[in-house]
Amino acid sequence: MSIRRRTFGFGIALCLVALLAIGPAFGEYADVVLNKRAEKEGVRPVIYPHWFHRIRFRCKVCHSELGFKMRAGGNDITMADIMDGKFCGMCHNDEVAWGLEHCHRCHSGLPGLETGIRGGGKSGGPGLY
Ligand code: HEC
Ligand code: HEC
Ligand code: HEC
Repeated sequence: MSIRRRTFGFGIALCLVALLAIGPAFGEYADVVLNKRAEKEGVRPVIYPHWFHRIRFRCKVCHSELGFKMRAGGNDITMADIMDGKFCGMCHNDEVAWGLEHCHRCHSGLPGLETGIRGGGKSGGPGLY
């Protein structure tokens, strides 16, 4: 009996932890669509998988050291800057991660997607692209 009760309590504790973790910033877990220029310039919108990166690096690597503002669409990112080794190009350089020749890995969104958050609990949800 006491063991069962303890297991139950533990289950509740886990749920609370999960809720707390999800609460503050859905954006942390979602994908970010970057399409201020891409489609106008003839390439597909960029899908940036935030969670994929976030579990590999600390927040401050990108949001303070690399200077990414913490808002979907908040950065003015150009392909020229990336090729100069800024933004995504800090890592996608064949050293930290695969290089810029793999255009389609980043430019993977379906035409028509607007810059902003996709999935992770906010409007939209997975399956839109
Ligand atoms: C590591 C990710 C990544 C890779 C790889 C990549 N791009 Fe981009 N690219 C971006 C991002 C992010 C933007 C900015 C998107 C926006 O806001 O419209 C962008 C923007 C662009 C633009 C819009 C105009 C401009 O100059 O900003 C063009 C054109 C473009 N990329 C072409 C390419 C081509 C061609 C390749 C392959 C040789 C490539 N990209 C590879 C991430 C990438
Ligand atoms: C590898 C780089 C990287 C790491 C690590 C990273 N982020 Fe981000 N984050 C980004 C980029 C890129 C964007 C999109 C910026 C844009 O659209 O211009 C973003 C966007 C965001 C947003 C905006 C979402 C919205 O709803 O507008 C939040 C909040 C955020 N990050 C929080 C975090 C937190 C908290 C961590 C650590 C737990 C973290 N990020 C780690 C690169 C990163
Ligand atoms: C701090 C370093 C860092 C930055 C900045 C960064 N990436 Fe990455 N990215 C990585 C690493 C590491 C991987 C994993 C590479 C591998 O699996 O070989 C990765 C993988 C990816 C993937 C593939 C995800 C998957 O499911 O396999 C995409 C797409 C991607 N990055 C896009 C971007 C875009 C777009 C930007 C800029 C907005 C960006 N990255 C900025 C380090 C970074």
